[in-house]
Amino acid sequence: MRERPSAQLTVRPGGPLTGRFTPPGDKSITHRAYLLGGLAEGETRVEQPNPGLDCEATLSCLAALGVPVTRHEHGVTLRGLDMRLREPDRVLECGNSGTTLRLLAGPLAAQPFLSVLAGDASLHRRPVDRIVEPLRRMGARLSARDQDRYPPLVVQGGELKPIHYALPVASAQVASALLLAGLYAAGVTRLELPVPARDHTQRMLPAFGAPVRVAEGADRGVTLEVEGPVRLRATAMRVPGDFSAAAFFLAAAAATPGASVTAVGVGLNPTRTGLLDVLEAMGAKVTRRPQPTDSGEPYGEVTVTGPERLRAFDVPREWLPRLIDEVPAWAVAAASAEGVSTLRGAEELRVKESDRLAAMAGNLSALGTAARETPDGLIIAGGRPRGGVVAAHADHRVAMACAVLGTFSEGPVTIEDRATIATSYPLFAGTLAALGGHVDDPAPASTRT
Ligand code: S3P
Repeated sequence: MRERPSAQLTVRPGGPLTGRFTPPGDKSITHRAYLLGGLAEGETRVEQPNPGLDCEATLSCLAALGVPVTRHEHGVTLRGLDMRLREPDRVLECGNSGTTLRLLAGPLAAQPFLSVLAGDASLHRRPVDRIVEPLRRMGARLSARDQDRYPPLVVQGGELKPIHYALPVASAQVASALLLAGLYAAGVTRLELPVPARDHTQRMLPAFGAPVRVAEGADRGVTLEVEGPVRLRATAMRVPGDFSAAAFFLAAAAATPGASVTAVGVGLNPTRTGLLDVLEAMGAKVTRRPQPTDSGEPYGEVTVTGPERLRAFDVPREWLPRLIDEVPAWAVAAASAEGVSTLRGAEELRVKESDRLAAMAGNLSALGTAARETPDGLIIAGGRPRGGVVAAHADHRVAMACAVLGTFSEGPVTIEDRATIATSYPLFAGTLAALGGHVDDPAPASTRT
């Protein structure tokens, strides 16, 4: 009989985390590699893709759009359709994945057919008006629930024209959707971001034969230009490890005296590694060892060693885009630091997989840390968390953050719904155990291969 996977994840306090680990392939980069591979002409081989459910959702949407997908020992090969996808005969299920839904809307806006993008309850609470508006300006017809604000999203694609568009939020998902749409529009599509966001799409498009002009704009902004029409050419790539997955162990190491963990083969793209700067400012020792790469994405090893006690730190507002997905991990470090740490300008976190400001403030409070949300941030008074039982809020990053907090709390921490972790990091609990974390049932049957 198959063992029933435990719904809960319990982590008990123990010795400090130590050792080396290899995080799974980067989720953001994997989505892009799959999408560009599906659009390119020829076979694109993607090695070490992220194995989580979000990237699986992108693959199954591409398969429903006619892209032949094959799996091999090292990853996935896609036989791209030379920019012309096929009309799907079913709803495109994006699961929990905002990146799948928003990025895919870009190329779908240029296809002469109807598609419907939908997902789980959490995805249906995340805004899509930010892509509906500019894609309409490019000439596509889109509509969405609740006055075009939330999924399901219906896209009736057609011929696109280029636009010059200033993004109201520095969203890499929106910029990427528009760059992908811009590949189809005759002329220059120009996008202005108020501050830089993760730049994986700009780095990857040239490898597929589509140059992107990048210029520093006024007031720290950045301008991106793509000139269409362009046809993509297949390529091969190896996805670097996911810094956002590694972040939980790095933050836990920073929070514990005597802890020292090394992430191996991890992406070190500076648009993603703001957490390292924050941990350094809080007194942790951070050693980055970049390795040569021809993939366009910096990567290497990073070691974080915990000091006797972290110091509280107010995260400067302008650092936030570089740690947008690491706020739950930062909150764990702040919960152990001496003094009161703050974060501001983070209202975007209210529309992630959960309302992360509310979820982290609520969970930290339930675990015995004095934490409170503000309209646009968090205030956390560090100490030794007591431990307890918390909800995952259908958010993989909230679940993983609270789990690593259990390595240095007084009592155990239990996450009620561990299944959500598989969104990005199915082997998270096993890695936590391998680094010395005391995890009940680190490899439930559902994650064994
Ligand atoms: C992502 C961009 C970010 C990030 C998300 C992944 C991407 O979202 O939070 O987890 O892969 O482009 P926004 O573009 O909404 O900031």
